[in-house]
Amino acid sequence: MARTRTLSDLKDGELEGRRFLARVDYNVPLDPEGEVSAATRIDATLPTLERLREAGASAVLVSHLGRPKGKWDPSSSLASVARELSRRIGYEVPLLTDPPGSRELEDRVGSIEPGRIALMENIRFHPGETENDPQFAEALASLAEGFVGEAFGTAHRAHASNVGAARIIRERGGPAVAGLLMARELRFLRECLADPERPFVAILGGAKISGKIDLIRAILPRVDRLIIGGAMANTFFRALGLETGESLLEEDRVAMAAELLESGGETILLPVDCVVAEEISADAQVRDCDREAVGPADRIGDIGPRSREIFSREVLNAGTVLWNGPMGVFELEPFREGTFHLARVLADQADAGVPVVVGGGDSAAAAAAAGVSGRMTHVSTGGGASLDLLAGNELPGVTVLETVEMASR
Ligand code: ADP
Ligand code: 3PG
Ligand code: MG
Repeated sequence: MARTRTLSDLKDGELEGRRFLARVDYNVPLDPEGEVSAATRIDATLPTLERLREAGASAVLVSHLGRPKGKWDPSSSLASVARELSRRIGYEVPLLTDPPGSRELEDRVGSIEPGRIALMENIRFHPGETENDPQFAEALASLAEGFVGEAFGTAHRAHASNVGAARIIRERGGPAVAGLLMARELRFLRECLADPERPFVAILGGAKISGKIDLIRAILPRVDRLIIGGAMANTFFRALGLETGESLLEEDRVAMAAELLESGGETILLPVDCVVAEEISADAQVRDCDREAVGPADRIGDIGPRSREIFSREVLNAGTVLWNGPMGVFELEPFREGTFHLARVLADQADAGVPVVVGGGDSAAAAAAAGVSGRMTHVSTGGGASLDLLAGNELPGVTVLETVEMASR
C-alpha cells in the first residue's frame, strides 16, 4: 500500500537552502472593504510555512482568489490576503505582481532569502492557470526546485499551479509532497473514513441532492446510519408521498430518492418533524410540526425538536461521524437550532474521543457560527474537494504528488 508523500517525510537536509513552489488555497471570503473576513484557510497553512522556515527553505506561495477569468481584476487581488498573512506570520510577506515567465518575477523570486516566503498575485489573472497550459506550468515550475501541494480546497481542479507545475518539478527529480494541511485532510477524509470505528454515522444535509449524488451513493454502503436533513430531506419526503408545500426540493430527484430509500432500507434515517414558516426570512413566524402535518403554503426551514433528539442519540452512539450539510437554513435565526444543536452534540462526541469529521464550506461555517469548530476532530478546508474525495473520486492535485510505500514509514 502506498500513501502520499508529505512534508513531514522530508528531512532538514532536503529542505535547507531549497526553494519551493507552495500551492495554497487562500480563496477566502472578503468583506465589503475587501479585507479578509475569515482566515481559517490562511491559519491552516501556518504549520507548513513554519516547517519550511525553521528548516531554512524558502517558498513562493501561489493561490487563486475567486474566478477572475484569466485577466487582472482588482476586486480579486491577493493584496489583503498578503497583509493578513503578514499579520499572522509575524513578518512582511511581499506580494509579487509580475507575471510568471517574466524576468522581473524570476529576479524577485531569486532574492527570497532562506527561511522567507513571498506570495504571488492571484494566479487566475492568467488564462494559462485554469487551462493547465504547459508553457505556463513550465514558467511556474522553473521558479522552484521543490513543490508543496497544500491547496486541499483546490485539489479537485487540474490547473497549472497545482498539477502542471507539480508534475514538471517531480519529473525533474525535485520533491513534490503534500503540505501538512493537505496531509491532515487526507488522513481524516480518506484514511480515517476508509476504516472507521463502528457504528459509522454519516449526516448529510444542505440545499441540494444533485450536487451530492456521488457522495450519497458512495457512502450508503459503507455507513451503519445515513441521517438526512436540510432541504435534501424534502425530496425524500416527497418520495414518501408527503406534502412538502412550498419547500425547496428537487422534483427531478424524487425518483432517485425513492430508489435510495428502497436500497438503503433501515440505514437511512429522515427527520420526523420540521420547523415550518410561510416564508424563509429572519423574522419568519415559525411553527414546529410533524412531517405529516406540513401544509400546502408551508416552507420547511429546519428539522424539528423530535428529530434533533433522534439524530443526537444516533450521534452519541456512533464510533465515527461524518457531517456534511446543514440541517436547515442556519444563516437565519428562526431556522438555526437544528444545525446548532447537532453541531454541539457532535462537538461533545469529539470531546469524548470519537472521530468527528466535518466537510463542506457551509457546514464548516455552521460549526464556526455555533462556536464549536475547535472541538471537532477535523473540519475540512475543502468544499467541492472534500465532497469529491468522500465520494471516492481521485483528486488530480493529490494524484500528482509523490507516493511512498507504507512499510517504509
Ligand atoms: P455544504 O457547503 O456544507 O456542503 P450545502 O452547500 O450543500 O452545504 O448547503 C448549505 C445550504 O443549505 C445553506 O446555505 C442552508 O441555508 C441551505 N439549507 C439547508 N436546509 C435548507 C432548507 N430546508 N431549505 C432551504 N435551504 C436549506
Ligand atoms: C473552493 O473554494 O472551493 C476552492 O478554492 C476552489 O475554487 P473554485 O471552485 O473556484 O475552483
Ligand atoms: Mg455549500
